[in-house]
Amino acid sequence: MKEDIISAMRAIAGEASVLTDPHDVAPHMIDWRKRHSGTAACVVFPRSTEQVSALLAYCNEHRVKVFPQGGNTSVCGGSVPDHDGNSVLVNLAKLNRIREVNAPNNSITVEAGCILADIQSAALDADRLFPLSLGAEGSCQIGGNLSTNAGGTNVVRFGNARDLVLGLEVVLADGRIWNGLRTLRKNNSGYDLKNLFIGAEGTLGIVTAASLKLYPKPSARATAMLAFDDVKDAVSQGLSLQGQFPGELVGLELISRSEFEISLKHAAKTRNPFEATPEWIVLVELAASSGTSEALTERLTDYLRDAFEEGVVRDAVVAANEQQRADLWKIRHSVTESNVREGMGLTHDIAVPTYRIPDFIGQASEALKQHYPDATPVVVGHMGDGNLHYIAMFSHDYWAAVDDKQKTQLELSHVLYDIAAAMGGTFSAEHGIGALHVPEMAKYKDAVEIELMQSIKRLFDPLDTMNPRRVVPN
Ligand code: FAD
Ligand code: LAC
Ligand code: ZN
Repeated sequence: MKEDIISAMRAIAGEASVLTDPHDVAPHMIDWRKRHSGTAACVVFPRSTEQVSALLAYCNEHRVKVFPQGGNTSVCGGSVPDHDGNSVLVNLAKLNRIREVNAPNNSITVEAGCILADIQSAALDADRLFPLSLGAEGSCQIGGNLSTNAGGTNVVRFGNARDLVLGLEVVLADGRIWNGLRTLRKNNSGYDLKNLFIGAEGTLGIVTAASLKLYPKPSARATAMLAFDDVKDAVSQGLSLQGQFPGELVGLELISRSEFEISLKHAAKTRNPFEATPEWIVLVELAASSGTSEALTERLTDYLRDAFEEGVVRDAVVAANEQQRADLWKIRHSVTESNVREGMGLTHDIAVPTYRIPDFIGQASEALKQHYPDATPVVVGHMGDGNLHYIAMFSHDYWAAVDDKQKTQLELSHVLYDIAAAMGGTFSAEHGIGALHVPEMAKYKDAVEIELMQSIKRLFDPLDTMNPRRVVPN
Protein backbone atom coordinates (compact mmCIF):
# COMPACT_ATOMS: atom_id res chain seq x y z
CA MET A 1 0.00 0.00 0.00
CA LYS A 2 2.76 2.39 0.98
CA GLU A 3 4.51 1.87 -2.37
CA ASP A 4 1.26 2.53 -4.27
CA ILE A 5 0.76 5.80 -2.41
CA ILE A 6 4.34 6.91 -3.12
CA SER A 7 4.02 6.05 -6.84
CA ALA A 8 0.75 7.94 -7.09
CA MET A 9 2.24 11.01 -5.39
CA ARG A 10 5.27 10.91 -7.71
CA ALA A 11 2.99 10.67 -10.74
CA ILE A 12 1.06 13.73 -9.58
CA ALA A 13 3.76 16.01 -8.15
CA GLY A 14 6.92 14.74 -9.85
CA GLU A 15 9.77 12.64 -8.46
CA ALA A 16 11.66 15.58 -6.93
CA SER A 17 8.63 16.77 -4.98
CA VAL A 18 8.12 13.58 -3.00
CA LEU A 19 10.39 12.77 -0.05
CA THR A 20 10.68 9.24 1.33
CA ASP A 21 14.24 9.03 2.63
CA PRO A 22 13.95 8.83 6.45
CA HIS A 23 16.62 11.49 6.87
CA ASP A 24 14.81 13.98 4.58
CA VAL A 25 11.41 13.18 6.00
CA ALA A 26 12.43 13.40 9.68
CA PRO A 27 12.14 17.20 10.22
CA HIS A 28 8.55 17.10 8.95
CA MET A 29 7.56 14.33 11.35
CA ILE A 30 8.23 16.25 14.57
CA ASP A 31 6.89 19.59 15.67
CA TRP A 32 8.88 22.72 16.45
CA ARG A 33 9.01 22.12 20.22
CA LYS A 34 9.75 18.40 19.68
CA ARG A 35 6.73 17.31 21.69
CA HIS A 36 4.60 15.68 18.99
CA SER A 37 5.72 13.25 16.30
CA GLY A 38 4.34 10.75 13.79
CA THR A 39 5.08 8.88 10.58
CA ALA A 40 3.82 9.04 6.99
CA ALA A 41 4.40 7.17 3.73
CA CYS A 42 5.94 10.31 2.22
CA VAL A 43 6.11 14.10 2.28
CA VAL A 44 4.76 15.81 -0.85
CA PHE A 45 5.46 19.38 -1.94
CA PRO A 46 2.78 20.32 -4.49
CA ARG A 47 3.66 23.25 -6.78
CA SER A 48 0.18 24.15 -8.01
CA THR A 49 -3.43 24.15 -6.87
CA GLU A 50 -4.12 21.52 -9.55
CA GLN A 51 -1.52 19.20 -8.02
CA VAL A 52 -3.12 19.66 -4.58
CA SER A 53 -6.46 18.83 -6.18
CA ALA A 54 -5.13 15.68 -7.87
CA LEU A 55 -3.43 14.39 -4.76
CA LEU A 56 -6.44 14.97 -2.51
CA ALA A 57 -8.69 13.26 -5.06
CA TYR A 58 -6.36 10.23 -5.04
CA CYS A 59 -6.16 10.13 -1.25
CA ASN A 60 -9.92 10.43 -0.91
CA GLU A 61 -10.59 7.67 -3.40
CA HIS A 62 -8.10 5.36 -1.69
CA ARG A 63 -8.98 6.40 1.89
CA VAL A 64 -5.45 7.67 2.53
CA LYS A 65 -5.16 10.12 5.45
CA VAL A 66 -3.78 13.56 4.60
CA PHE A 67 -1.87 15.77 7.02
CA PRO A 68 -1.37 19.36 5.78
CA GLN A 69 1.72 21.18 7.00
CA GLY A 70 2.90 24.77 6.67
CA GLY A 71 5.96 26.07 8.52
CA ASN A 72 5.43 23.46 11.27
CA THR A 73 5.65 26.10 14.00
CA SER A 74 2.34 25.43 15.71
CA VAL A 75 2.41 24.42 19.34
CA CYS A 76 -0.60 22.10 19.57
CA GLY A 77 0.57 19.03 17.65
CA GLY A 78 -1.70 19.58 14.64
CA SER A 79 1.04 19.94 12.03
CA VAL A 80 2.57 16.47 12.21
CA PRO A 81 0.97 13.15 11.21
CA ASP A 82 -0.25 10.42 13.52
CA HIS A 83 1.50 7.05 13.82
CA ASP A 84 -0.44 5.21 11.11
CA GLY A 85 2.47 5.47 8.64
CA ASN A 86 0.32 4.98 5.55
CA SER A 87 -0.64 8.62 5.30
CA VAL A 88 0.57 11.54 3.18
CA LEU A 89 2.04 14.70 4.63
CA VAL A 90 1.37 17.63 2.29
CA ASN A 91 3.75 20.53 2.85
CA LEU A 92 2.76 23.74 1.04
CA ALA A 93 6.25 25.33 0.98
CA LYS A 94 6.58 25.13 -2.82
CA LEU A 95 3.19 26.68 -3.47
CA ASN A 96 4.58 30.08 -2.65
CA ARG A 97 3.98 32.65 -5.36
CA ILE A 98 2.72 36.13 -4.64
CA ARG A 99 0.02 36.24 -7.29
CA GLU A 100 -0.92 39.92 -7.12
CA VAL A 101 -0.21 43.03 -5.10
CA ASN A 102 -3.04 45.49 -5.73
CA ALA A 103 -2.07 48.72 -3.96
CA PRO A 104 -5.09 50.79 -5.10
CA ASN A 105 -7.39 48.07 -3.76
CA ASN A 106 -5.26 47.60 -0.63
CA SER A 107 -5.11 43.86 -1.23
CA ILE A 108 -2.57 41.14 -1.88
CA THR A 109 -3.21 37.64 -3.24
CA VAL A 110 -0.73 35.01 -2.15
CA GLU A 111 -0.32 31.26 -2.27
CA ALA A 112 -0.57 29.27 0.95
CA GLY A 113 3.14 28.46 1.23
CA CYS A 114 4.30 32.09 1.29
CA ILE A 115 6.32 32.80 4.43
CA LEU A 116 4.59 35.45 6.53
CA ALA A 117 7.68 37.72 6.58
CA ASP A 118 7.83 37.64 2.76
CA ILE A 119 4.23 38.85 2.56
CA GLN A 120 5.03 41.66 5.00
CA SER A 121 8.01 42.65 2.80
CA ALA A 122 5.98 42.54 -0.43
CA ALA A 123 3.40 44.83 1.19
CA LEU A 124 6.09 47.29 2.35
CA ASP A 125 7.55 47.33 -1.18
CA ALA A 126 4.14 48.55 -2.37
CA ASP A 127 4.06 51.18 0.39
CA ARG A 128 1.52 49.17 2.36
CA LEU A 129 1.36 47.20 5.62
CA PHE A 130 0.30 43.59 6.11
CA PRO A 131 -0.17 43.72 9.87
CA LEU A 132 -0.11 40.07 10.96
CA SER A 133 3.04 39.75 13.07
CA LEU A 134 4.34 36.99 15.35
CA GLY A 135 7.59 35.55 16.63
CA ALA A 136 7.59 32.72 14.06
CA GLU A 137 7.02 35.06 11.09
CA GLY A 138 10.34 34.12 9.48
CA SER A 139 9.23 30.50 9.06
CA CYS A 140 5.45 30.16 9.41
CA GLN A 141 3.36 30.15 6.22
CA ILE A 142 0.23 32.15 5.55
CA GLY A 143 -1.71 28.89 4.98
CA GLY A 144 -0.77 27.83 8.52
CA ASN A 145 -1.55 31.28 9.91
CA LEU A 146 -5.02 31.26 8.41
CA SER A 147 -5.67 27.63 9.29
CA THR A 148 -4.93 28.38 12.95
CA ASN A 149 -6.48 31.87 12.82
CA ALA A 150 -3.20 33.14 14.28
CA GLY A 151 -3.11 36.19 16.52
CA GLY A 152 0.24 37.75 17.40
CA THR A 153 1.28 41.20 18.49
CA ASN A 154 -0.87 43.51 16.35
CA VAL A 155 -4.31 42.08 17.08
CA VAL A 156 -5.23 44.92 19.43
CA ARG A 157 -5.41 47.21 16.39
CA PHE A 158 -5.91 45.01 13.29
CA GLY A 159 -7.65 41.88 14.60
CA ASN A 160 -6.47 38.31 14.16
CA ALA A 161 -5.78 36.45 10.91
CA ARG A 162 -9.50 36.02 10.21
CA ASP A 163 -10.02 39.79 10.16
CA LEU A 164 -7.39 40.20 7.44
CA VAL A 165 -8.91 37.84 4.87
CA LEU A 166 -10.95 38.95 1.87
CA GLY A 167 -11.10 35.65 0.00
CA LEU A 168 -9.73 32.11 -0.14
CA GLU A 169 -8.96 29.37 -2.61
CA VAL A 170 -9.40 25.93 -1.07
CA VAL A 171 -9.07 22.36 -2.28
CA LEU A 172 -11.75 20.19 -0.70
CA ALA A 173 -11.16 16.69 0.67
CA ASP A 174 -12.40 15.08 -2.57
CA GLY A 175 -10.17 17.27 -4.76
CA ARG A 176 -12.74 19.85 -5.87
CA ILE A 177 -11.35 23.40 -6.04
CA TRP A 178 -13.35 26.24 -4.51
CA ASN A 179 -12.22 29.55 -5.95
CA GLY A 180 -13.34 32.16 -3.46
CA LEU A 181 -10.49 34.59 -4.15
CA ARG A 182 -12.55 37.77 -4.07
CA THR A 183 -11.09 41.06 -2.97
CA LEU A 184 -14.33 42.80 -1.98
CA ARG A 185 -14.91 44.62 1.28
CA LYS A 186 -18.60 43.78 1.20
CA ASN A 187 -20.27 40.61 -0.02
CA ASN A 188 -23.43 39.29 1.60
CA SER A 189 -24.19 36.64 -1.01
CA GLY A 190 -24.95 33.64 1.16
CA TYR A 191 -23.02 31.76 3.86
CA ASP A 192 -19.52 33.08 4.55
CA LEU A 193 -17.65 29.88 3.64
CA LYS A 194 -14.15 31.31 3.98
CA ASN A 195 -14.66 31.69 7.71
CA LEU A 196 -15.24 27.95 8.03
CA PHE A 197 -11.81 27.17 6.60
CA ILE A 198 -10.05 29.86 8.65
CA GLY A 199 -9.19 28.24 11.97
CA ALA A 200 -10.18 24.74 10.73
CA GLU A 201 -6.54 23.59 11.06
CA GLY A 202 -6.65 21.58 7.84
CA THR A 203 -9.60 19.42 8.90
CA LEU A 204 -11.93 20.63 6.13
CA GLY A 205 -9.60 21.01 3.15
CA ILE A 206 -6.30 22.58 2.10
CA VAL A 207 -6.06 26.35 1.74
CA THR A 208 -4.06 26.98 -1.44
CA ALA A 209 -4.28 30.79 -1.76
CA ALA A 210 -5.69 33.83 -0.01
CA SER A 211 -6.57 37.44 -0.79
CA LEU A 212 -5.58 39.59 2.16
CA LYS A 213 -6.18 43.13 3.36
CA LEU A 214 -3.41 45.70 3.25
CA TYR A 215 -3.21 48.89 5.30
CA PRO A 216 -1.32 52.17 4.89
CA LYS A 217 2.37 51.83 5.69
CA PRO A 218 3.10 53.58 8.99
CA SER A 219 5.35 56.61 8.73
CA ALA A 220 5.68 56.92 12.49
CA ARG A 221 6.17 54.54 15.39
CA ALA A 222 6.66 55.01 19.13
CA THR A 223 7.70 52.09 21.32
CA ALA A 224 8.27 51.83 25.05
CA MET A 225 8.68 49.32 27.84
CA LEU A 226 6.96 50.21 31.09
CA ALA A 227 7.75 48.79 34.52
CA PHE A 228 5.15 47.97 37.20
CA ASP A 229 5.24 46.51 40.71
CA ASP A 230 1.77 45.06 40.42
CA VAL A 231 -0.06 43.42 37.53
CA LYS A 232 -3.23 45.33 38.49
CA ASP A 233 -1.42 48.58 37.71
CA ALA A 234 -0.05 47.15 34.46
CA VAL A 235 -3.54 46.23 33.24
CA SER A 236 -5.20 49.48 34.30
CA GLN A 237 -2.42 51.44 32.59
CA GLY A 238 -2.93 49.30 29.48
CA LEU A 239 -6.65 50.05 29.45
CA SER A 240 -5.85 53.75 29.88
CA LEU A 241 -3.43 53.61 26.91
CA GLN A 242 -6.19 52.03 24.80
CA GLY A 243 -8.46 54.94 25.67
CA GLN A 244 -5.77 57.56 25.11
CA PHE A 245 -4.45 56.31 21.75
CA PRO A 246 -7.39 54.41 20.22
CA GLY A 247 -6.31 54.73 16.56
CA GLU A 248 -2.59 54.44 17.15
CA LEU A 249 -2.13 51.68 19.71
CA VAL A 250 -0.92 48.65 17.70
CA GLY A 251 0.81 46.56 20.38
CA LEU A 252 0.16 46.03 24.09
CA GLU A 253 2.09 43.08 25.51
CA LEU A 254 2.51 41.90 29.09
CA ILE A 255 5.62 40.10 30.38
CA SER A 256 6.27 38.79 33.90
CA ARG A 257 9.63 39.20 35.54
CA SER A 258 10.23 35.44 35.30
CA GLU A 259 9.64 35.46 31.52
CA PHE A 260 11.72 38.60 31.04
CA GLU A 261 14.66 37.00 32.83
CA ILE A 262 14.35 33.77 30.81
CA SER A 263 14.38 35.69 27.54
CA LEU A 264 17.39 37.79 28.58
CA LYS A 265 19.19 34.65 29.74
CA HIS A 266 18.77 32.60 26.54
CA ALA A 267 18.26 34.97 23.62
CA ALA A 268 21.39 36.22 21.89
CA LYS A 269 22.02 39.95 21.63
CA THR A 270 19.51 41.03 24.24
CA ARG A 271 20.19 43.26 27.22
CA ASN A 272 18.11 44.42 30.13
CA PRO A 273 16.91 47.96 29.36
CA PHE A 274 16.02 48.56 33.04
CA GLU A 275 18.41 49.21 35.88
CA ALA A 276 16.29 47.09 38.21
CA THR A 277 14.26 44.26 36.66
CA PRO A 278 10.57 45.01 37.27
CA GLU A 279 7.93 42.53 38.46
CA TRP A 280 5.76 43.27 35.42
CA ILE A 281 6.65 44.77 32.06
CA VAL A 282 4.32 46.22 29.45
CA LEU A 283 5.57 46.67 25.90
CA VAL A 284 3.56 49.33 24.14
CA GLU A 285 3.73 50.39 20.52
CA LEU A 286 1.94 53.19 18.68
CA ALA A 287 1.92 53.61 14.90
CA ALA A 288 0.50 56.22 12.54
CA SER A 289 0.45 56.63 8.79
CA SER A 290 1.15 60.34 8.98
CA GLY A 291 3.57 62.44 11.01
CA THR A 292 6.97 61.46 12.30
CA SER A 293 8.24 58.97 14.85
CA GLU A 294 9.76 61.85 16.81
CA ALA A 295 6.38 63.57 17.19
CA LEU A 296 4.56 60.35 18.09
CA THR A 297 7.29 59.42 20.58
CA GLU A 298 6.96 62.84 22.17
CA ARG A 299 3.21 62.32 22.64
CA LEU A 300 3.83 58.95 24.24
CA THR A 301 6.57 60.39 26.46
CA ASP A 302 4.28 63.21 27.64
CA TYR A 303 1.60 60.68 28.50
CA LEU A 304 4.11 58.50 30.36
CA ARG A 305 5.50 61.45 32.30
CA ASP A 306 2.04 62.08 33.75
CA ALA A 307 1.57 58.37 34.51
CA PHE A 308 4.97 58.30 36.20
CA GLU A 309 4.10 61.32 38.32
CA GLU A 310 0.88 59.62 39.38
CA GLY A 311 3.15 56.90 40.79
CA VAL A 312 1.72 53.93 38.88
CA VAL A 313 4.43 53.45 36.27
CA ARG A 314 7.62 52.63 38.16
CA ASP A 315 10.02 53.13 35.26
CA ALA A 316 9.87 53.47 31.47
CA VAL A 317 12.28 52.95 28.59
CA VAL A 318 11.29 54.75 25.40
CA ALA A 319 12.95 53.68 22.13
CA ALA A 320 14.84 56.60 20.65
CA ASN A 321 15.47 54.99 17.26
CA GLU A 322 14.69 51.93 15.12
CA GLN A 323 17.53 49.89 16.63
CA GLN A 324 16.31 50.47 20.18
CA ARG A 325 12.80 49.59 19.08
CA ALA A 326 14.06 46.32 17.55
CA ASP A 327 15.99 45.55 20.76
CA LEU A 328 12.86 45.86 22.89
CA TRP A 329 10.85 43.65 20.53
CA LYS A 330 13.68 41.11 20.41
CA ILE A 331 13.20 40.42 24.12
CA ARG A 332 9.48 39.89 23.55
CA HIS A 333 9.73 37.79 20.39
CA SER A 334 12.41 35.51 21.86
CA VAL A 335 10.22 34.14 24.65
CA THR A 336 9.10 30.89 22.98
CA GLU A 337 12.56 29.71 21.95
CA SER A 338 13.98 30.81 25.32
CA ASN A 339 11.29 28.92 27.23
CA VAL A 340 12.16 25.74 25.33
CA ARG A 341 15.77 26.10 26.49
CA GLU A 342 14.85 26.97 30.06
CA GLY A 343 12.84 23.87 30.93
CA MET A 344 9.59 22.05 30.35
CA GLY A 345 7.00 24.80 30.06
CA LEU A 346 3.36 23.74 30.10
CA THR A 347 1.82 26.57 28.11
CA HIS A 348 -1.78 27.68 28.54
CA ASP A 349 -3.06 29.93 25.78
CA ILE A 350 -6.00 31.33 27.72
CA ALA A 351 -8.09 34.45 27.22
CA VAL A 352 -10.31 36.26 29.69
CA PRO A 353 -11.93 39.70 29.51
CA THR A 354 -8.93 42.04 29.74
CA TYR A 355 -9.94 43.62 33.05
CA ARG A 356 -9.98 40.11 34.64
CA ILE A 357 -6.30 39.44 33.83
CA PRO A 358 -5.09 40.30 37.37
CA ASP A 359 -7.76 38.01 38.90
CA PHE A 360 -6.75 35.18 36.57
CA ILE A 361 -3.06 35.58 37.35
CA GLY A 362 -3.76 35.80 41.09
CA GLN A 363 -5.92 32.67 41.18
CA ALA A 364 -3.72 30.69 38.79
CA SER A 365 -0.55 31.45 40.73
CA GLU A 366 -2.24 30.54 44.00
CA ALA A 367 -3.37 27.22 42.51
CA LEU A 368 0.14 26.45 41.24
CA LYS A 369 1.67 27.28 44.61
CA GLN A 370 -0.79 24.98 46.36
CA HIS A 371 -0.85 21.99 43.98
CA TYR A 372 2.35 22.25 41.91
CA PRO A 373 4.95 24.02 44.09
CA ASP A 374 7.77 22.88 41.77
CA ALA A 375 6.40 24.94 38.89
CA THR A 376 7.42 28.57 38.35
CA PRO A 377 4.65 30.77 36.93
CA VAL A 378 5.86 32.42 33.72
CA VAL A 379 3.55 34.86 31.96
CA VAL A 380 3.68 36.50 28.57
CA GLY A 381 0.74 37.63 26.57
CA HIS A 382 -1.17 39.90 24.34
CA MET A 383 -2.62 42.02 27.13
CA GLY A 384 -4.69 44.19 24.81
CA ASP A 385 -6.57 41.07 23.66
CA GLY A 386 -7.01 39.55 27.14
CA ASN A 387 -4.84 36.68 25.87
CA LEU A 388 -2.19 35.26 28.19
CA HIS A 389 0.30 32.48 27.67
CA TYR A 390 0.35 31.28 31.26
CA ILE A 391 3.22 28.84 31.55
CA ALA A 392 3.92 26.41 34.38
CA MET A 393 7.70 26.06 34.03
CA PHE A 394 9.38 22.92 35.40
CA SER A 395 13.09 22.23 35.28
CA HIS A 396 14.09 19.60 32.72
CA ASP A 397 15.33 17.34 35.55
CA TYR A 398 12.12 17.60 37.54
CA TRP A 399 9.97 16.90 34.49
CA ALA A 400 12.11 13.92 33.44
CA ALA A 401 11.30 12.28 36.78
CA VAL A 402 7.51 12.81 36.57
CA ASP A 403 5.84 9.39 36.23
CA ASP A 404 2.67 10.02 34.27
CA LYS A 405 3.49 13.15 32.29
CA GLN A 406 0.29 13.16 30.26
CA LYS A 407 -1.92 12.86 33.34
CA THR A 408 0.03 15.55 35.23
CA GLN A 409 -0.22 17.90 32.25
CA LEU A 410 -3.93 17.31 31.82
CA GLU A 411 -4.74 17.77 35.52
CA LEU A 412 -2.66 20.92 35.87
CA SER A 413 -4.10 22.41 32.69
CA HIS A 414 -7.65 21.78 33.75
CA VAL A 415 -7.08 23.55 37.07
CA LEU A 416 -6.06 26.65 35.07
CA TYR A 417 -8.72 26.25 32.36
CA ASP A 418 -11.40 25.98 35.06
CA ILE A 419 -10.25 29.33 36.44
CA ALA A 420 -10.44 30.92 32.97
CA ALA A 421 -13.82 29.31 32.25
CA ALA A 422 -15.27 30.68 35.48
CA MET A 423 -14.38 34.17 34.20
CA GLY A 424 -16.07 33.60 30.85
CA GLY A 425 -12.68 32.81 29.30
CA THR A 426 -11.31 30.23 26.89
CA PHE A 427 -8.65 27.50 26.97
CA SER A 428 -7.51 28.35 23.43
CA ALA A 429 -7.19 31.95 22.31
CA GLU A 430 -4.84 31.91 19.32
CA HIS A 431 -2.79 28.70 19.06
CA GLY A 432 -5.70 26.46 18.09
CA ILE A 433 -6.65 22.94 19.10
CA GLY A 434 -4.46 20.56 17.11
CA ALA A 435 -4.22 17.10 18.64
CA LEU A 436 -3.36 18.45 22.09
CA HIS A 437 -6.60 20.19 23.05
CA VAL A 438 -9.22 17.78 21.74
CA PRO A 439 -9.98 16.69 25.35
CA GLU A 440 -10.63 20.31 26.28
CA MET A 441 -13.04 20.68 23.35
CA ALA A 442 -15.07 17.84 24.80
CA LYS A 443 -14.90 19.27 28.33
CA TYR A 444 -15.37 23.01 27.82
CA LYS A 445 -17.41 23.50 24.63
CA ASP A 446 -21.17 23.49 24.57
CA ALA A 447 -22.66 20.15 23.42
CA VAL A 448 -24.67 21.82 20.64
CA GLU A 449 -21.54 23.55 19.37
CA ILE A 450 -19.70 20.22 19.23
CA GLU A 451 -22.61 18.57 17.39
CA LEU A 452 -22.62 21.36 14.80
CA MET A 453 -18.86 21.07 14.34
CA GLN A 454 -19.14 17.30 13.89
CA SER A 455 -21.83 17.85 11.24
CA ILE A 456 -19.67 20.39 9.40
CA LYS A 457 -16.72 17.99 9.48
CA ARG A 458 -18.90 15.17 8.06
CA LEU A 459 -20.24 17.46 5.34
CA PHE A 460 -16.82 18.60 4.13
CA ASP A 461 -14.89 15.42 4.81
CA PRO A 462 -17.29 12.44 5.02
CA LEU A 463 -14.46 9.89 4.79
CA ASP A 464 -12.43 11.62 7.51
CA THR A 465 -9.23 11.79 5.49
CA MET A 466 -8.31 15.42 6.28
CA ASN A 467 -6.12 15.87 9.36
CA PRO A 468 -8.11 13.23 11.27
CA ARG A 469 -8.50 13.26 15.06
CA ARG A 470 -7.67 16.95 15.21
CA VAL A 471 -9.89 19.78 16.48
CA VAL A 472 -13.32 18.11 16.70
CA PRO A 473 -13.88 15.27 19.19
CA ASN A 474 -15.51 12.18 17.64
P1 FAD B 1 1.78 24.63 10.84
O1 FAD B 1 2.34 24.58 12.22
O2 FAD B 1 2.55 23.91 9.80
O3 FAD B 1 0.30 24.11 10.82
C1 FAD B 1 -0.67 24.58 11.72
C2 FAD B 1 -2.02 23.90 11.43
O4 FAD B 1 -2.53 24.37 10.18
C3 FAD B 1 -1.94 22.40 11.27
O5 FAD B 1 -3.13 21.84 11.76
C4 FAD B 1 -1.82 22.16 9.78
O6 FAD B 1 -2.37 20.91 9.40
C5 FAD B 1 -2.68 23.30 9.24
N1 FAD B 1 -2.24 23.84 7.95
C6 FAD B 1 -1.04 24.38 7.62
N2 FAD B 1 -1.07 24.85 6.36
C7 FAD B 1 -2.32 24.59 5.88
C8 FAD B 1 -2.97 24.85 4.65
N3 FAD B 1 -2.36 25.48 3.65
N4 FAD B 1 -4.26 24.46 4.50
C9 FAD B 1 -4.91 23.82 5.51
N5 FAD B 1 -4.33 23.56 6.69
C10 FAD B 1 -3.06 23.94 6.87
N6 FAD B 1 0.73 31.85 17.16
C11 FAD B 1 -0.07 32.91 17.35
O7 FAD B 1 -1.26 32.84 17.06
N7 FAD B 1 0.44 34.09 17.85
C12 FAD B 1 1.73 34.24 18.16
O8 FAD B 1 2.13 35.29 18.63
C13 FAD B 1 2.60 33.15 17.92
N8 FAD B 1 3.92 33.26 18.17
C14 FAD B 1 4.73 32.20 17.94
C15 FAD B 1 6.09 32.34 18.17
C16 FAD B 1 6.95 31.28 17.95
C17 FAD B 1 8.42 31.47 18.18
C18 FAD B 1 6.43 30.03 17.52
C19 FAD B 1 7.32 28.85 17.27
C20 FAD B 1 5.08 29.88 17.28
C21 FAD B 1 4.22 30.96 17.48
N9 FAD B 1 2.85 30.86 17.25
C22 FAD B 1 2.03 31.94 17.43
C23 FAD B 1 2.29 29.58 16.79
C24 FAD B 1 2.45 29.39 15.25
O9 FAD B 1 3.48 30.09 14.72
C25 FAD B 1 1.21 29.85 14.54
O10 FAD B 1 0.16 29.05 14.93
C26 FAD B 1 1.34 29.81 13.02
O11 FAD B 1 0.23 30.49 12.53
C27 FAD B 1 1.40 28.42 12.41
O12 FAD B 1 1.80 28.51 11.04
P2 FAD B 1 2.61 27.35 10.32
O13 FAD B 1 2.74 27.70 8.89
O14 FAD B 1 3.83 27.01 11.03
O15 FAD B 1 1.55 26.15 10.41
C1 LAC C 1 3.76 34.34 21.63
C2 LAC C 1 3.37 32.97 21.12
C3 LAC C 1 3.79 31.90 22.03
O1 LAC C 1 2.89 35.16 21.88
O2 LAC C 1 2.01 32.91 20.84
O3 LAC C 1 4.96 34.58 21.77
ZN1 ZN D 1 0.96 34.65 21.47
